[in-house]
Amino acid sequence: MVIFVLIASLAQLLAPSLVSMMVDGVSGNEEGLIIMLAVAMIVLSVVGLIFSVAFSGQIAVVLAVAIPILVIAVTGILFGASRYSVKLRSKTDAINRLFLEALEGVRVIRAFNKQEHEIDRFEDTNEEAAEISRKSIVTSGLMTPVVNTLFGLTSVGAMMAGAANIGHGGMEVGSLVAATQYINIILIAIMLLASVVSMFPDAYACMKRIGEVLETEVTIRDSEKDKPEPSYRGTVEFRNVTFAYTGADAPVLKGINFVSKSGETTAIIGRTGCGKSSIVKLIPRLYDTLFGDVLVDGVNVKDYKLDDLRERIGYVPQKNVLFTGDIAENLNF
Ligand SMILES: Nc1ncnc2c1ncn2[C@@H]1O[C@H](COP(=O)(O)OP(=O)(O)OP(=O)(O)O)[C@@H](O)[C@H]1O
Ligand SMILES: [Mg+2]
Repeated sequence: MVIFVLIASLAQLLAPSLVSMMVDGVSGNEEGLIIMLAVAMIVLSVVGLIFSVAFSGQIAVVLAVAIPILVIAVTGILFGASRYSVKLRSKTDAINRLFLEALEGVRVIRAFNKQEHEIDRFEDTNEEAAEISRKSIVTSGLMTPVVNTLFGLTSVGAMMAGAANIGHGGMEVGSLVAATQYINIILIAIMLLASVVSMFPDAYACMKRIGEVLETEVTIRDSEKDKPEPSYRGTVEFRNVTFAYTGADAPVLKGINFVSKSGETTAIIGRTGCGKSSIVKLIPRLYDTLFGDVLVDGVNVKDYKLDDLRERIGYVPQKNVLFTGDIAENLNF
């Protein structure tokens, strides 16, 4: 009994923080608090259940019916909400991407008079996000009314069962009062637990997005062969190289052959988008060829350790990136 009262007061203590977390979002060490609350609620409902069965036999039957219904309803709502949450995350991504593109490409957009088009695109994506957000809120909003209704019905059921029992002398009024108190405590615990769990869909959606990035497999790996590295000569050779980006309909490079010897300057000329930068990216093995070989100092780039290969190459990308620091540091980088 003492443990029960302790847990109940702990729950009362924690409930306001939970509400504030739901309003302001979770931050810092509040995760600990949420887990604590969730554990407390589980213990509270289990202990409550045991007590109500022990002290008020038949009334516990009402709980045996009510709790599974409550759990199914809550799970269903959470399941629906989490589907919208996942969709909403990817829409938020799209909004961020469009915003970034518009910001970075503002001059291009102006030069081609595409402001209206960009604004429409941004608006459409926002509309879609708002629509999903609306559905998500409606779904999660079902939680409180559904739980409250079930709560009310359970109390009524307990009262009716109790009253019938008291009527034919099988139970005392005091036991009924105690039983309804237990039921209240159990249901409050389940409701609080539901509000803790209702934070899961968002967390799940975020976890999934982060997981997608972390679980992306590295396709370009170090060579297994333990060959001595060739001496530095500074030659690059392409042998019948064909290359396509993943998911592209057609290869950007087809049957490319050339040799760039040490001391020579090789220039590659072509219209925009014809694959000049793609050729250069194959040399430090930022991508692997589809067919054919790229050789640096006479050795296939796939036979190098990546560090050794890239050590041999100075690469100035078309789109420059400046890291924080001074010019010297950037050049050294
Ligand atoms: N990471 C990528 N994923 C998919 N497709 C890409 C990627 N990078 C480039 N492409 C496509 O491959 C083609 C060749 O691109 P690349 O950047 O090699 O052209 P480029 O000749 O360097 O053009 P530019 O003269 O504009 O620099 C283009 O159609 C481009 O859209
Ligand atoms: Mg280029």
